[in-house]
Amino acid sequence: EEEEELTPWKEQENWEAHQVAKASMAAGARDKKAAKQEYEFVLPDAVEFVTAQAIAGNLEIEDREQEEARAKAEKAAAAKSAFERLQEDRRTLPMYEYREMLLEALEQHQILIVTAETGSGKTTQIPQYLHEAGYSKAGRIGCTQPRRVAAMSVAARVATEVGVKLGHEVGYSIRFEDCTSDKTLIKYMTDGMLLREFLGEPDLVSYSVMMIDEAHERTLHTDVLFGLIKDIARFRPDIKLIISSATLNAEKFSEFFDYAPILNVPGRRYQVDILYTKAPEADYLTAAVTTALTIHVREPAGDILIFLTGQEEIEAAEELLKQRTRGLGSKIGELLIAPIYANLPSEQQAKIFEPTPAGARKVVLATNIAETSLTIDGIKFVVDPGFCKQNAYSPRTGMESLVVTPISQASANQRAGRAGRTAPGKCFRLYTHHSFTSEMDEDTIPEIQRTNLGNVVLMLKSLGINDLMHFDFLDPPPSETLLRALEQLYALGALNQRGELTKLGRRMAEFPLDPMLAKTIIASEQFQVSEELATICAMTAVGNAIFYRPKDKGVEADNAHNAFHRGNVGDHIALLNCYNGWADDDVNFSTQWCYQNFVQVRSMKRARDIREQLLGLMERTEVQLVSDAGNHDAIRKALAAGFFYHTASLQRNGSYRTVKSPMTVHIHPSSGLTETMPRWVVYHELVLTSKEFMRTVSEIKPAWLLEVAPHYYSKKDIVDESSKKLPKGLGKAPTEA
Ligand code: CDP
Ligand code: MG
Repeated sequence: EEEEELTPWKEQENWEAHQVAKASMAAGARDKKAAKQEYEFVLPDAVEFVTAQAIAGNLEIEDREQEEARAKAEKAAAAKSAFERLQEDRRTLPMYEYREMLLEALEQHQILIVTAETGSGKTTQIPQYLHEAGYSKAGRIGCTQPRRVAAMSVAARVATEVGVKLGHEVGYSIRFEDCTSDKTLIKYMTDGMLLREFLGEPDLVSYSVMMIDEAHERTLHTDVLFGLIKDIARFRPDIKLIISSATLNAEKFSEFFDYAPILNVPGRRYQVDILYTKAPEADYLTAAVTTALTIHVREPAGDILIFLTGQEEIEAAEELLKQRTRGLGSKIGELLIAPIYANLPSEQQAKIFEPTPAGARKVVLATNIAETSLTIDGIKFVVDPGFCKQNAYSPRTGMESLVVTPISQASANQRAGRAGRTAPGKCFRLYTHHSFTSEMDEDTIPEIQRTNLGNVVLMLKSLGINDLMHFDFLDPPPSETLLRALEQLYALGALNQRGELTKLGRRMAEFPLDPMLAKTIIASEQFQVSEELATICAMTAVGNAIFYRPKDKGVEADNAHNAFHRGNVGDHIALLNCYNGWADDDVNFSTQWCYQNFVQVRSMKRARDIREQLLGLMERTEVQLVSDAGNHDAIRKALAAGFFYHTASLQRNGSYRTVKSPMTVHIHPSSGLTETMPRWVVYHELVLTSKEFMRTVSEIKPAWLLEVAPHYYSKKDIVDESSKKLPKGLGKAPTEA
């Protein structure tokens, strides 16, 4: 209403007259003078009112518009300058000077080996150069990474550098998570995902360039990719291949790829002083924390990078650091702790890249991921305890476990190099000089030579590669390991007696899971519990980051966790109970429930995502979805149908012995069965720490083994074991609720 009145006013040329008229109308029959008076009386107010409104309104509008415009301009300028700054940074990387040379070389050669010091810009820059040079017009530019976290973090960085939203033109793909779209031109992915892509697209036709990055890491999947892409190069002359690596092994790669040219980009590296301990450290975790604190109080500014072997150690170190600095207050400078490991949620991963505020010092607690895959600016001090977690596999026994192992000299040197990227630095080795020179291997043994090949053999078989003994491996796996894998796949029913893929094997290969897990899911249909097994598989795929136990609420946490185990149901069913508790209609995936039960929300969400994908794959492979959550026997039978390799029986001395091979193992302290000690168990995995531990354990009945794996077990295996007398109190009968 006001508007209506105001508009004609403003437009009226003679608005004073209009006012007079209005006022006189209001004044009715009053004379002009009176009207004028009233006008005079009315006007100031009216004017004030009008101007106040109109001007204020106008100003406000103007202000808002101006402000918006200014903010927009500022933001654009800021964004532009941030963007420009990023572009300038890009031009300072060692890789940049070799941009033209690289592009020219790639025009002339189909395969190119590129080596450069870590942090030179191989991973982030080369795919961008190729994109800028027009390669993305002919197809996607792919780049593999051995590690999930690296694929995600590098893709995010490149999306920022290109100035696009992550998942659009620049994306990534890792197991159970695809962050790409039809638009994606630069795609980072784990080497395992590319291997999976071969199943759907054996000639990689949607790619114009494929870069196998971090080749020096020699992961199992990267090694298999070498053989596959070498083959592709022969019948796809249009595809370009880049093998990039830190400064190791270039000649070997070149030779393998028919003497492909090597582009060696000299790096910048500052002097790094290397310090050793005088005597071996008994407890490297405490030693690492002490060293970091010593650096913090004694050394000049510069961030610290500590190499640890896994999430558990990193969390323990974080706790210890906090404990030691608590109460010191302003006596020491601020210490920011930034952990990084594979299961860390991506928001928190970004934290390690944030610049350290003046006066503070950052301590990055990292796994091997920071050795070459990720570059963190500002690190001047490296603390290297000299260990990493590695697969170990014995083809003789078929036993596979994760073992904390001394690193190689090559690794130690890479780690030290992280301290000298932007300025001179120091590396504190928590081992003796003698250990370094005479106890450490020169190079890390390629993973293909120390891991179970079941998964890879199944994948190669589905790609139609039958003669594995003659597959073009850079370094062939031990033939016993290959034979073991074939045997295992045969026992699982994935291969027939001639070593050919069966229908079951083809279905198993569809699942991005270990063959034992894939078999479990498919077998679970016949026991009417496929939904339960999908849940259990999803929960095990999340890893060991589900339950947590805060020190100050240990009892509450234990009680909550014990509730999942009620009735000694075994760890697999406890995982199922946990998930079903969260998914219950009343709880409806609530975060609150997770807090109350001391369960990690993020892990649960990931389990839910994985579960959804498994259900999708089950539909595709025609595994019927059937549910019988209360039927614990059926669930464990289905488990045994996939995991009959992972069985153990109780011995007189209270330890366990794996059923088919003489090996002593124990129930992991995290299990719910440490006190029950059932006579026969099936386990998810072996981990070697202070002892060989079975992690995630369930009780089975030995007769089931004959039922689900008649190829593998004979009555004798079971009778011999079962007839052994056990001391009183051991091997109690199952106490199903
Ligand atoms: O692959 P390479 O080790 O040769 O280097 P890169 O990963 O491409 O990293 C090049 C530079 O990008 C590093 O030195 C970092 O300064 C920067 N970068 C970053 O700031 N944040 C990331 N997430 C990745 C790289
Ligand atoms: Mg890299």
